Amino acid sequence: MSDARSDSNVNHATKTTQATTTITIAICVPIAIVALIISAVAISKPIGSDITVQGETTGTQQTPQPEVAYSPSTYDASRCQVSNRKRIYTLAIGFDIGPYEYSDDSGFQVGFGRDLIDAVCQEAGIDCRIVREPTTNCMFSERGQPHRGGIGLMEGWYDACTGWLTTRQRKQIFAFSKPFLKPIEVYFYAFPGFNPFNITGKKIGLISGLFTNEACLAGLDQVAGRDVPHSNVFHAQTVDELVAMIQNGTVDVGFSARTALATKINGTNIQHFPSDPMFCKNAGQPGMMTRKDNDFNSKWNEGFEKLVSSGRFKRLCDEARIKHGHRGEIECVDA
Ligand SMILES: *[C@@H]1O[C@H](CO)[C@@H](O)[C@H](O)[C@H]1NC(C)=O
Ligand SMILES: *[C@@H]1O[C@H](CO)[C@@H](O)[C@H](O)[C@H]1NC(C)=O
Ligand SMILES: *[C@@H]1O[C@H](CO)[C@@H](O)[C@H](O)[C@H]1NC(C)=O
Repeated sequence: MSDARSDSNVNHATKTTQATTTITIAICVPIAIVALIISAVAISKPIGSDITVQGETTGTQQTPQPEVAYSPSTYDASRCQVSNRKRIYTLAIGFDIGPYEYSDDSGFQVGFGRDLIDAVCQEAGIDCRIVREPTTNCMFSERGQPHRGGIGLMEGWYDACTGWLTTRQRKQIFAFSKPFLKPIEVYFYAFPGFNPFNITGKKIGLISGLFTNEACLAGLDQVAGRDVPHSNVFHAQTVDELVAMIQNGTVDVGFSARTALATKINGTNIQHFPSDPMFCKNAGQPGMMTRKDNDFNSKWNEGFEKLVSSGRFKRLCDEARIKHGHRGEIECVDA
């Protein structure tokens, strides 16, 4: 039907092909399909030839010639697709990590991670969606082994994992965005009386995939017995499991980031040691973690820079401390 109508307006259509093309690139697919037909019909027929037989034309008319219709001067499909079919970036976020990710009273997932993703993706002009995932699908580790890429990120189930810091081991596997948090404090978690400066012979609990691993332990110069034999290393898959392992004596001590454990030991007899924070050697600061062939970090960095330079990042952090502060401190990078 639209073919017949366009035929009655052949002269008009021809004159406006140029203008139509410009609009096509801007508005794309739905309009582009109509414009394609109009311009194809206009170009493939001698002007005015069918005006007198209008009404019959639909059935008798030749199919438009694609090579004319698709020529770059009339319609640039690649440009149109890029601007129209907006890529959706999917970002994995953990279940329960201090103020960064948790369920509110109604069971809705909230936290600084979400607030930041919303703000940065908006600044970057990209469409981001959050995927809740076990952290071990981003990265995992086993007794005596270096870190390995988790199946979710490795297999491209999503574009990035949220809030992962760089380490020497991890940089050999994944790529990292600019950091948005300060370096993370690490502690031993044990019952009162634990001596954090000598862990010789102790059974140590670690959380799979986290940067607080055997390599980090081995770099704690102030701690005697830091080269823990593999037989004394036990991996928990989640923070809750580590707490349970400390409580039931499977391990003498847990070693973890404060962000992960602070809320979990509330109400238990478990304490952190030593009183002054420790930091892992060769560890950077938390950001977004992607496969090395993914372009997400460049977009994220652009959005993040804008957020910082406009002062909105600082405001976001201040607001998040009010909203999520009951779950622990939020240590944004200085901006
Ligand atoms: C650490 O503890 C072990 C076992 O209790 C002990 O043999 C060793 O002398 C201690 N090392 C230091 C430096 O205190
Ligand atoms: C201790 O807790 C861990 C984690 O929940 C569990 O796997 C293990 O079986 C428990 N061990 C004992 C002795 O209760
Ligand atoms: C610890 O528990 C108390 C009482 O249940 C609560 O008021 C407080 O906010 C909790 N703190 C953290 C860091 O979760």
